[in-house]
Amino acid sequence: MKLKIIILLVVIVLTSCNEKKEEVKKEMPKVIVKSDDGRISLHLNAMQKKHQLSNMRSHLVAVQTLIELIAEDDFEKASKVAYTQLGTTTAMRLMCASFGNKKFEDMGLKFHSDADKMSEILKTKDKDKSLKALSKTMNSCISCHATFKQ
Ligand code: HEC
Repeated sequence: MKLKIIILLVVIVLTSCNEKKEEVKKEMPKVIVKSDDGRISLHLNAMQKKHQLSNMRSHLVAVQTLIELIAEDDFEKASKVAYTQLGTTTAMRLMCASFGNKKFEDMGLKFHSDADKMSEILKTKDKDKSLKALSKTMNSCISCHATFKQ
């Protein structure tokens, strides 16, 4: 009898642990990039690689700057940063087209167009809408990273 109760307790504890693991799994991001993933290589040369990565690091800085400016309610500056650093400027358009891959170019242009929209939304000084727009723009970072590698 005692043994049965102990076994029952062990089973209950184990299954409740599993439930917790499931909960954590659900909170994890959906896109998990493994080293043997099916990402498409852009076959970039050394110079293109360097140029692309430095451009990407500026994108990351821009996102951090935007979060800080939104937190400080400096929407006008945030709107400018969104357009000049992430929007559809001539430099960005040329950069996206320079890698000779139409799908990459389309994804890049979609990303810059999301940033243009975010720049407009920031002008309304609505924090919730601005954060939503930033999140939408960042979804474009995520989908391109899940699709392409250098
Ligand atoms: C159109 C495609 C595309 C978009 C959009 C894009 N990236 Fe990238 N990014 C890449 C590729 C390709 C790489 C290289 C990945 C590899 O080869 O593993 C990269 C690499 C990076 C890196 C690594 C830099 C380094 O020095 O190693 C960072 C950081 C990064 N991206 C940030 C961002 C952020 C932030 C955004 C959005 C605001 C963004 N990227 C949007 C394609 C994109």
